[in-house]
Amino acid sequence: MTAAQAASVMAARKPGFSPRVGLVLGSGLGGLVDAMEDGTAIPYADLAGFPTPTVAGHGGTLWLGQLGGVAVACLAGRAHAYEGRGAGVMNGAVRTLRQAGCDILLLTNAAGSLNPDAGPGSLMLITDHINFTGANPLMGEDGDNFVDMTDAYDPDLRAGLRRAAQALGIALTEGVYIWFTGPSFETPAEIRASKALGADLVGMSTVPEAIVARQCGLRVAALSMITNMAAGLDLAPITHAQILDVAARAAGDMQRLLVGFLGALS
Ligand code: HPA
Repeated sequence: MTAAQAASVMAARKPGFSPRVGLVLGSGLGGLVDAMEDGTAIPYADLAGFPTPTVAGHGGTLWLGQLGGVAVACLAGRAHAYEGRGAGVMNGAVRTLRQAGCDILLLTNAAGSLNPDAGPGSLMLITDHINFTGANPLMGEDGDNFVDMTDAYDPDLRAGLRRAAQALGIALTEGVYIWFTGPSFETPAEIRASKALGADLVGMSTVPEAIVARQCGLRVAALSMITNMAAGLDLAPITHAQILDVAARAAGDMQRLLVGFLGALS
């Protein structure tokens, strides 16, 4: 019910607008909304089921407009499980995007790299994920929660992102994302274990949204801005401020890639 209510608020604020793509902006990537044309802002506080983020660098506004010629609903800011409102904290927002007409969800985030060839400032395409947190956004939810997670990160969308990156001359590595709830960063031992399990990058978001998105029939793609080497892989300590700083400086490539990808969709 909440998703239908929030979708009707969206429709009332921008009559006739029907978003095709939902876009979730990760830490330090909020500047991407500047590239949007004909943008209409709706504060999360006006949208039932949209959580107001509590962490610096994560805004709380839904933007409706055109990006790369495609009608996009852009979430500037997401809430995380580590803020204490559970792994399903973004369920309402993701379901609202579906209810509003989106069929694609593009997730972006800041992540740590386990791959020495993918350093800070570079972009990585998520091919699959590992969730060993013990949490899941569908725990305790009504409905069919036995969601197939094969090809959760849509192969056709991944191919489109690869093509867009190539056309723009943007280096794009690929890998498996491992979700830790945070908010503390991982230990070097956890990162060594993650590497043994097959992870290439690590972060505290994206996985819950991808799961609920698959449940409601959205096709999902996810892109990471690598902001740091994961714990123990270089000498520098990991700080939230550094992550925001690197993400902000390298956000231009992410923006060009997303706009190029969307342009090829339309
Ligand atoms: N670990 C977890 N989350 C992150 C990291 C990291 O190293 N970098 C950016 N988000």
